[in-house]
Amino acid sequence: MQVAIDGPAGSGKSSVCKIIAEKYSLTYIDTGAMYRSIAWISIHFGEDNLVEKAGNTEFILEDNGRKISVKYDNNVYDLTKEIRMPEISAKVAFAASNRDIRKILVKKQQAFAEGSDVIMEGRDITTVVLPNADIKIYLTASPEERAKRRFKEWESMEQNEEYAKVLEEIKKRDEMDMSRKESPLLQSEDAVLLDTTGLSLEQVADKIGEMIIS
Ligand code: C5P
Repeated sequence: MQVAIDGPAGSGKSSVCKIIAEKYSLTYIDTGAMYRSIAWISIHFGEDNLVEKAGNTEFILEDNGRKISVKYDNNVYDLTKEIRMPEISAKVAFAASNRDIRKILVKKQQAFAEGSDVIMEGRDITTVVLPNADIKIYLTASPEERAKRRFKEWESMEQNEEYAKVLEEIKKRDEMDMSRKESPLLQSEDAVLLDTTGLSLEQVADKIGEMIIS
């Protein structure tokens, strides 16, 4: 069983995927975390030759998608927390807009999914990474609702960003994700549209659960 979910920043993909993964024994793969890790690599090891650096990065996903580490230059770095920081969000578009980096990461994502029962989320999963997935969903919510969710998430990490700034960041990221030349975020024709504005996490999980068991 392969479940593919795409959607804009803050649409609730990762929270709902974790619930579904547990309930239906699927391996959860957060592809945004992989792009974020490359952004981290660019900050710590430099932006030059980033394609080569991405190729030399090994991703270690543990605890069913709750923990991500990278093996780079013979060292292992646990990036679970660091990749959620605002400076990474600001930097990630640089890696995500590079065609060759995308090719490398798409291959690694497909290898993770090969022969496994997975739930994978990102921006190009239904369109590029797993176009033949059994279930394809486009998850979204209004920018204001998504900003509210991100604001709370950052608040819990003691990152003091203003709501207005978070909203601005969400809109900026939408614009970048949707207008990107390489694999832009779009709702593929055969993906089910799920607008989560005003829905609780449990309600969204129930809707996806119904698709899985039907
Ligand atoms: O999902 P998340 O917000 O963690 O993703 C961070 C960024 O990584 C996105 O804004 C997008 O630019 C990029 N991304 C991507 N393709 C994916 C997943 C994420 O371009 N499949």
